[in-house]
Amino acid sequence: MNSGIAKFSFPTTIYFGAGAVYELPQYLKDVGIKKPLLVTDPGMLKTDVFPKVQGILEDSGIQPGLFSEVNPNPLDSDIQKAVDVYRNEMCDGLIGLGGGSALDAAKMVQVIAGHGGKVNDYDISTGGNENIKGPLPPMVAIPTTSGTGSEVGSCSVITSVALGRKFLVCSPLLIPSIALLDPELTMGMPAALTAGTGMDAFTHCLEALSVKDFHPMCDAIALKGIEFVAQYLETAVREPDNIEARGYMQLAAMMGAVAFQKDLGATHSLSHSLSAVCHVPHGLANAICLVPVMKFNKENCLAEYAKVAACFGVNTFEMSLAEAAEKVIEAVMDLNKRIGIPENLSDVGVKEEDLEELTEKAFLDGCHQSNPRSCTRENMMELYREVL
Ligand SMILES: [Fe+2]
Repeated sequence: MNSGIAKFSFPTTIYFGAGAVYELPQYLKDVGIKKPLLVTDPGMLKTDVFPKVQGILEDSGIQPGLFSEVNPNPLDSDIQKAVDVYRNEMCDGLIGLGGGSALDAAKMVQVIAGHGGKVNDYDISTGGNENIKGPLPPMVAIPTTSGTGSEVGSCSVITSVALGRKFLVCSPLLIPSIALLDPELTMGMPAALTAGTGMDAFTHCLEALSVKDFHPMCDAIALKGIEFVAQYLETAVREPDNIEARGYMQLAAMMGAVAFQKDLGATHSLSHSLSAVCHVPHGLANAICLVPVMKFNKENCLAEYAKVAACFGVNTFEMSLAEAAEKVIEAVMDLNKRIGIPENLSDVGVKEEDLEELTEKAFLDGCHQSNPRSCTRENMMELYREVL
C-alpha cells in the first residue's frame, strides 16, 4: 500500500469497434472540430484506409486539410511544414491517422499551432514541457497499427534535424481528445509488422506491471493486456483478416500505453538504443531483448510473473512462484518463436562491434531507471551479449 497520496488518471475518451470510423464526423463535432488537418504518412495514401477516411469526411461535407509527409521517425521540419498547412487552411483541430509516427506528429502540430515557437522549445529534457500550458486544438487519433498506443499517450517523440537526436515532448495536454479504435483499419498490416508491434504492446504491459510504483489500476490493465496478447497475437499474425484477433490486439496496444504511465523498464532502454544505432524496428528489438531482461528481473518480479502465468494458461497449482515465473519466460520465448521473431540480435544485423555504442546509449536512456532491478552499464552489455 502506498504511504502517500496516489494519483490515478485515465482521461481519454475511447471509441472501439468495427466500423467506428464511420462515426468520425460525429466525433469531430463532439470536440468542436469543423475543419481538421489530417496528418498521416506517405505510405498510408497507398492503402485502402486513406480513401475510406477521406470519403467518410467528404460525405459529411467536411473538407480536411492534408499533410501526408510524416517521416517514419517524425522530424521537427515535418511538424513545421504541417503547421504551415494548418494555418493556411485555417484548420481548427487535428486528425492523426496511422502508426505511432503520424500520431506523434499530429500531437506536436497541436502544440505549435496552439502556442507557436519551434518544436525543440518544448523538449522535456530542457524543461520545455513547462511551456505547454494550453489550451491546444482538439485532436482525434486513429491508429492503424497495434503497438505504440500513442493514441492514449501524453508524449510525442520527435527527431531534431539540427541537433541530430531524438527528443521527447510530454504533457497531459498532448493526450488526444478522442481515440478512435476501429480494428478493420488494422487488417492490412503485414505479418512481421503485426508480430513486432504486438510484442511492443506486450512489453509495455509487462514492463509496466513489473515497475514497483503503487498503481493497482494500471497493474490490472497491464495484466488484461498481456492476456489479450497471449490469446490473440499469434492468430492476428496468421490470419490478418481475423477481426476478433485484430480487435483484441488493438485493445492490448491501447491498454499497454495506459498502463505504462507507471513507467517502463530496461527492455525499452536496450531497444531504444538498438533502433538508434542499428535501425532495428522498435517492437522487434523489444521482443528479442525482453527475454534476457525477464531472466535478469525474475527474482524481483516473482509475484508479478506468477500472475502472468495464468494469462498464458499455465496451471501453476503446486508450483512455487519461481517455477511459475520460469514458465512465463518459457511462454514468452515460445510466443516469439510462433510469431516468427528471430531469437538473436545477429539475425537482425547487430554485430559484436556495435555492442559498445549500444551499451553506452542504452545506459543513457531513462527507461531503465524504473526497472525493478537496478541495471548497471555492465549488466546492459551482458543482456545484449545473451541474445547476440
Ligand atoms: Fe515501446
